Amino acid sequence: MYSSEIDVLIPQPQNDFVETFYIKKLTQRALDYIKAGFPVHFKGPTGVGKTTLALHTAAKLDRPVVFLSGNEELNTSQLVGGLYGYNKKYLRDNFIARVLKVEESATQQWVDDRLTIACKYGFTLIYDEFNRSRPETNNVLLSILQEKILPMSRARGREGYLQVHPDFTSIFTSNPEEYAGVYRMQDALRDRMVAIELEALDENTEVAITQAKSGLNLGDCQKIVSLVRAVRGAKANQTTPTVRACIVVARVLKQKNSFRKNASAVLKQTCLDVILPEIPKEEREKVQQIVEHA
Ligand SMILES: Nc1ncnc2c1ncn2[C@@H]1O[C@H](COP(=O)(O)OP(=O)(O)OP(=O)(O)O)[C@@H](O)[C@H]1O
Ligand SMILES: [Mg+2]
Repeated sequence: MYSSEIDVLIPQPQNDFVETFYIKKLTQRALDYIKAGFPVHFKGPTGVGKTTLALHTAAKLDRPVVFLSGNEELNTSQLVGGLYGYNKKYLRDNFIARVLKVEESATQQWVDDRLTIACKYGFTLIYDEFNRSRPETNNVLLSILQEKILPMSRARGREGYLQVHPDFTSIFTSNPEEYAGVYRMQDALRDRMVAIELEALDENTEVAITQAKSGLNLGDCQKIVSLVRAVRGAKANQTTPTVRACIVVARVLKQKNSFRKNASAVLKQTCLDVILPEIPKEEREKVQQIVEHA
């Protein structure tokens, strides 16, 4: 029985989740692979909804979720567990008055970490941006995904292997390999997952997401999305600004009381404030013109 050794997530259906036909189909494909016993890997550039979809798919599985974020500093023992803390024992012997004898013994205790917990109790593992971790950190996944066993350190004090619970499932997300801070995934790991490539969000989905996340009216959300998409399309890197920029602009406008008085100018200025700092210097003038002439 699991007893709060680590924090787990219980994913809940989100009111502001936008479920278009495309997203419904992607979720169903992922669930089909998972039910057939395969790990699923959502691939795609930034802002296309990989993490959101991973959480949404996990919620459909109705099991607690262990969430991991890939990063360069992560090592295998932070995934699996290790020896932590001290159990201190003092033995005070003052049998003879005026003579004080103190014995101190310190023992470390093995603590299971997230990956071990997920394997042990059959939880759903979401390993977000797992290719930001070093490939050697992720090697531990190879036998989990294929042989369904997790080799354990002797320091754990029990058997050398942990049999992975039959309900254990895993969902991975990754950014493209050309992104900064991302490692090339080892072929053996790639071969153990079913990859689902996420396309750029279409305009209607971006409008629906912007509206759901901000509460701003449809007409203004359409204007914001169309402007952000125009900027995106004019840049060398056409993956940014993402729908996140649309959400930020829409939320700012939603809470700006004076917005209605000079709507178009406020909308353009807010877009520039949000977008411009992230635009490479050589492309700023072009972007400024697109926004001003919109
Ligand atoms: N189906 C959806 N319904 C509502 N909001 C969504 C949906 N998909 C994505 N979003 C929103 O769009 C934004 C980007 O989504 P998300 O963070 O999942 O993208 P990502 O592909 O994981 O990006 P990154 O690679 O940068 O981590 C978030 O604010 C998220 O809440
Ligand atoms: Mg993400």
